[in-house]
Amino acid sequence: MTIVIAVDGTAASGKGTLAKRLARHFGFAHLDSGSLYRLVALGVVQAHGDPANEADALKAARAIDPKRAGDPVIRTAEIANVASVVSAFPAVRATLLDFQRAFAATALPGAVIDGRDIGTVVCPDATAKLYVDAAPEVRAHRRWLELQAAGHPREESAILAEIEARDARDRNRAVAPLKPAADAYLLDTSYLDIDAAFAAALALVKPGVENALKARQGG
Ligand code: DC
Repeated sequence: MTIVIAVDGTAASGKGTLAKRLARHFGFAHLDSGSLYRLVALGVVQAHGDPANEADALKAARAIDPKRAGDPVIRTAEIANVASVVSAFPAVRATLLDFQRAFAATALPGAVIDGRDIGTVVCPDATAKLYVDAAPEVRAHRRWLELQAAGHPREESAILAEIEARDARDRNRAVAPLKPAADAYLLDTSYLDIDAAFAAALALVKPGVENALKARQGG
């Protein structure tokens, strides 16, 4: 049995940062599943395809190179929005599912995977599941601060509108919609800074992960 921590949540909720820190804490491998959907989006945009066209999206999904997941070109707002559109196609999701499951099955001593459907669809038997959220205004403000600091200032109201549109699309799609797994720990980071959010996340997942590590050593 592999040990998997599933970290799902809304756009810009801080789930990626929490997942990375949890992975570092436990010495686990980390997969940002959103980057796979962003690579599909990049493929569609670069091919001048139509993100709302299933055939264009599927062609891009079949051609992604997961080794490019760290490429900064996929971190733009445009790519995020296109990723949210292409990810609604069941065939696109099915194409990315094997890669994510293989990652979870082979990562040693364990994996932290963040996304929208990790606890519900990709790894329903995950060792521990977190669902991270924060008020939309708080998430928009954090993103505004990040962009400001990076020298790419944008209107906070535009960021808020994008975040809300993306959440609505991710929640309302027919296949693998964004929602907490029934057995996920809910973590609202609206009033927590990143260190406090990490401490809270760790406190929630630690007992289950440590039990699983102990069981593996014993077995
Ligand atoms: O986590 P992110 O912002 O990088 O994700 C970009 C988009 O990809 C998100 O709006 C919806 C989609 N996505 C998904 O459908 N399922 C996942 N497991 C991860 C991301």
